[in-house]
Amino acid sequence: MTISHIKDLHHNVGKTVTLQGWLYNRRDSGKIAFLVLRDGTGLCQCVVAKNEQTEPFFETARRLGQESSLRVTGVVRANEKQIGGHELDVTGLEVVGESVDYPITPKPHGIEFLMKNRHLHFRSRRQWHILRVRATLVDEIRGYFNRNGYTLIDTPIFAPAAGEGAQTLFTVDYFGEPVYLAQTGQLYVEAACMAFGKVYCFGPTFRAEKSKTRRHLTEFWMVEPEIAYADLNGVIDVAEDFICSIVRRVLRDHRADLEFLGRDIASLEKVQKPFYRITHKDAADILRGPRAKELLEKDLSTKTARLEEVKKRIVEKEAKEKGQGIKQWERDKLIAELHELREEQGDLEVDLQNIPHHMQLAANFDPGGDLGGSDETIISRLHDRPTFVTHYPRECKAFYMKRNAQDPTRCNNVDLLAPDGYGEIIGGSQREDDLDVLLERIHEEGLNPADYEWYLDLRRYGTVPHGGFGLGVERTLAWLCGLKHIRETIPFPRMMGRFYP
Ligand code: 4AD
Ligand code: MG
Repeated sequence: MTISHIKDLHHNVGKTVTLQGWLYNRRDSGKIAFLVLRDGTGLCQCVVAKNEQTEPFFETARRLGQESSLRVTGVVRANEKQIGGHELDVTGLEVVGESVDYPITPKPHGIEFLMKNRHLHFRSRRQWHILRVRATLVDEIRGYFNRNGYTLIDTPIFAPAAGEGAQTLFTVDYFGEPVYLAQTGQLYVEAACMAFGKVYCFGPTFRAEKSKTRRHLTEFWMVEPEIAYADLNGVIDVAEDFICSIVRRVLRDHRADLEFLGRDIASLEKVQKPFYRITHKDAADILRGPRAKELLEKDLSTKTARLEEVKKRIVEKEAKEKGQGIKQWERDKLIAELHELREEQGDLEVDLQNIPHHMQLAANFDPGGDLGGSDETIISRLHDRPTFVTHYPRECKAFYMKRNAQDPTRCNNVDLLAPDGYGEIIGGSQREDDLDVLLERIHEEGLNPADYEWYLDLRRYGTVPHGGFGLGVERTLAWLCGLKHIRETIPFPRMMGRFYP
């Protein structure tokens, strides 16, 4: 028995192989059963013709439940028109584990249901494509820093103090004492870069985000490089090169996955140096100016028109679906289309409710404040390549960011906004390397200096300019794959109100 993976079938045309997998889909015409098998490397249609050889299992093949696990033996035939480009003419079939009433059928399901069944949900095609890109993204992240002379430093997950805002700390009972789940490994890689020059950490980070948004998880993966002797521009140059390398790799290895997901690939191909570099003040001007207003007014009119169109189609399809004399497959198709249209209607209604609010926020943007999610979306949509926004007002940013020498109300920080409206995927900065200024900021933020004694030591013993950034894997993946919501970017998402399975 020659075991083959579906992705390797092109080596085996004309030969007899055995595939081991699960039944993705099935249909039959009475004399032929078509079993679409998936094995984790791809999909392949297995054709079971009714004849002497298939007699012992033909009826089984016709009755198999979706997701039954199978060993299927047969002759490989090239067939351009079929999924994956090959078919198997089946000569043997072994049922390894039956599956009855698999809960996720080809019919549409609501997102809540799918997320409750996430352990099964990622067997479905769309999820499979997304998570394959994730694996490559993670590999490229490690590869990039390993190739470029960075030493990997694993940072602790139990943290004694806040690294980012104290409002998003998760507290854990550590033998009777409170400690926190790490929001960032940054403070530790700062220590490490003084020992190794260029370092990075990569692992899960935790934030008690109390809002359910399409950009926030409570557990997400972040890579954080940290570079001794780097200033803000040095940090930005690394971030730019790093993003280009990620996009190149994903385009090289995952074009087909991205196409399946409907990603606009031309837009990813535009991700080339140089990215835009604007200041927070420029961003404020854009938000308060005519371009932002025009963009959102246009949204209002196109989305209003689209909503009317969608409502009209829903009425038409509902009437057809209720009508007499239509075949079951036609009805199923209509039901699926109606499901999609209703989802779109829901999204459009939410958007239309939000747009006036977003217009208000942009028009009245406080030049002394942080960019909100909708502000980032506007800036990001007005640029066709990623955009670095630098020099935010000091008060709205973390205590460790370097105070700007020319304008002490600002800091030497950077956020990278991904294009196509995705917003922030990187946050970084040059770090405050002056002991006194850092202490002042710790006091200003109401933090306890005793918690940061070790961190202050870095400024006492051979302090140097240094900086780095953090890139969130899930937000980056949502952008690369063109996903609406971050919950699909991680195998088992954790968000407010969601921690099962
Ligand atoms: O901007 P943030 O908070 O920066 C830091 O944590 C710094 N300590 C990084 C550094 O300089 N070493 O987070 C960095 C990135 C964000 O740009 C975003 O991609 C991601 O982490 N991120 C989240 N992703 C998903 N869900 C959340 N709740 C996230 N919060 C941040
Ligand atoms: Mg940030």
